[in-house]
Amino acid sequence: MSGVVFDRVSKRFGDVLAVEDLTLEVLDGEFMVLLGPSGCGKSTALRMIAGLEEISGGTLSIGDRVVNDVPPRDRDIAMVFQSYALYPHMTVQQNIESPLVANRSVRVDPAERSQRVADAAATLGLTEYLGRKPGELSGGQRQRVALARAIVRRPEVFLMDEPLSNLDAKLRTQTRLELVDLHRRLGTTFVYVTHDQVEAMTMADRIAIMSDGRLQQVGAPQAVYERPANLFVAGFIGSPPMNVLSGVAVSAGEGLAVRTSAGDVPVGVTGATRADESVVVGIRPEHLHVSPTPAHLTGRVENVELLGHERHVIVRSSEDRLVVRDPSDGPSVGVGSEVHLGVDPDRVHLFDPATTWRTN
Ligand SMILES: Nc1ncnc2c1ncn2[C@@H]1O[C@H](COP(=O)(O)OP(=O)(O)OP(=O)(O)O)[C@@H](O)[C@H]1O
Ligand SMILES: [Mg+2]
Repeated sequence: MSGVVFDRVSKRFGDVLAVEDLTLEVLDGEFMVLLGPSGCGKSTALRMIAGLEEISGGTLSIGDRVVNDVPPRDRDIAMVFQSYALYPHMTVQQNIESPLVANRSVRVDPAERSQRVADAAATLGLTEYLGRKPGELSGGQRQRVALARAIVRRPEVFLMDEPLSNLDAKLRTQTRLELVDLHRRLGTTFVYVTHDQVEAMTMADRIAIMSDGRLQQVGAPQAVYERPANLFVAGFIGSPPMNVLSGVAVSAGEGLAVRTSAGDVPVGVTGATRADESVVVGIRPEHLHVSPTPAHLTGRVENVELLGHERHVIVRSSEDRLVVRDPSDGPSVGVGSEVHLGVDPDRVHLFDPATTWRTN
């Protein structure tokens, strides 16, 4: 088994710097998710591990070996793409077996080959379908064949590029669980690319969030959620997204508050922020609540979305709009009426408006 290390890796396509100065260590046996919006460089980073893109600068290692100039077939990796492209004229058995037949570097004798195919099929619950053609399978079963075809090689590292995006919502949730389970059983390093924060949050040991070719933050899902490093991460992770207000820090008793158009936001942990500084304050919707009596913020209710177990109250306050996520049985609110909002001061995030990076 092996980890993967990017050391100041860059990839340039003509004028486009698709990946810029990426330093990231994927630990041996870790499930690392590369997360970010379309075009941020996730697939390019993954394809460099696979050897499908040349590296413009820096050093990339798999295990102890620098692989910058190692051809794809000599890297001990297997990759699963979004379009999993099975051979339609071959049976499931033959599809799973195909890498062991086609690729000289992993070629194994026929007895070993049959055993590996049987093991991979059993691992992914495909034993009873081995005689079928891909056209005779559901989408989820086909996706599992593509995964079996990858694990049959017993690679050091699995690379997956949005492998679930062709599946419907229910199948995606199910396959997500199966992949986490597969990772647990194999104990192999996984590098998994997605733009879906829910996939990232639910599957990853750690998430690496990218924007515009640059790594923004690396950390365990909960850690990134609780302490986003900058405004990009704060806005990208969490649904509904974090509320973000501009303001000025003011003294409030021993500590600080942030004066915003909606009122003064109390700040529990002030970090590097000082009174009179301009600041951007972030509050997750679940850290605001509707208060029956005057509280930190006020606004007018624009809409209420009832979701059964919770509600989202959309509140307008001069130029700002806030989303409150609280239990459906909270104080009643009428659309168009004034509402008071309480803030949990220990959950308030502060960002520098110039750099966009966290300051508390
Ligand atoms: N072969 C190429 N030639 C030129 N530019 C490319 C090439 N491949 C990727 N790019 C550019 O590099 C940037 C990163 O692309 P990449 O495919 O890595 O993004 P991504 O994060 O995987 O996005 P998506 O979520 O849409 O798949 C984009 O601006 C893209 O247009
Ligand atoms: Mg991509």
